[in-house]
Amino acid sequence: MIRKCLFPVAGYGTRFLPATKAMPKEILPVVNKPLVQYGVEEASAAGISEFGFVTGRGKRAIEDHFDISFELEHQIAGSGKESLLTSIRDLIHNNTFAFTRQNEMKGLGHAILTGRNLMSDNPFAVILADDLCVVDEGEDSVLAQMVKLYNQFRCSIVAIMEVPEDQTHKYGVIAGESMKDGLYRVTDMVEKPAPKDAPSNLAIIGRYILTPDIFELLENTEPGKNGEIQITDALLAQAKAGCVLAYQFRGRRFDCGSIDGFVEATNYIYENVYKNNQ
Ligand code: G1P
Repeated sequence: MIRKCLFPVAGYGTRFLPATKAMPKEILPVVNKPLVQYGVEEASAAGISEFGFVTGRGKRAIEDHFDISFELEHQIAGSGKESLLTSIRDLIHNNTFAFTRQNEMKGLGHAILTGRNLMSDNPFAVILADDLCVVDEGEDSVLAQMVKLYNQFRCSIVAIMEVPEDQTHKYGVIAGESMKDGLYRVTDMVEKPAPKDAPSNLAIIGRYILTPDIFELLENTEPGKNGEIQITDALLAQAKAGCVLAYQFRGRRFDCGSIDGFVEATNYIYENVYKNNQ
């Protein structure tokens, strides 16, 4: 069973300045809910109940969001506004949240390694909150789809999607042997390749299931692309030693790390989720 999920949330969010000057980018609202809460809800829908966050300076608001605000509760008790807190209250009551700090920015691999003591020796999920994933009504959340696969194959899994050739430089890109529709056994993985160096057009998005041997591999991973410790490199080592799967998920992903993707997600959630719940 996958019970734990790690959120690396130490990044500065410079693309959203000045909005992110005093506020974590993960707290930016998509309509009326912070980006990071969508990720926690997705994981929760996959049966995960223990959450770990790798934070940094200026990220206190994330801890506060997953804690009860007594003054606020008191203030709106009995009013029509109480229901607006239902979704976050449910998450707080049904899950645990733990936080640790990454005090140097040395890449996603380093951030995940920093979360080791929160994940202990269990297989765990990783969500990059910038990637907001939605699925059709009645469909499993993207992470729930991956957990089902994990239960079948018991190895690390990355979520992938096809991207246009001129976009490969933004992602980790895989090559793999097709196992069945939408499922590949990874044979190669390159972090942010130029189109001419990309082994395919299958890009990794911010959803991973990792077996705990990834930590040893990360400890022995040299800085790679941009001088950072890359999870992509550790996963390639894992793929070579054993098995890593790449899964073309059912659903839609918005790149909320970019202004365009954030606005698209906002419009989509407003039209397809928010309005339906009014
Ligand atoms: C990270 C990973 C990359 C992956 C991407 C998905 O990059 O390093 O392999 O494709 O997340 O969002 P970042 O977007 O943090 O630069």
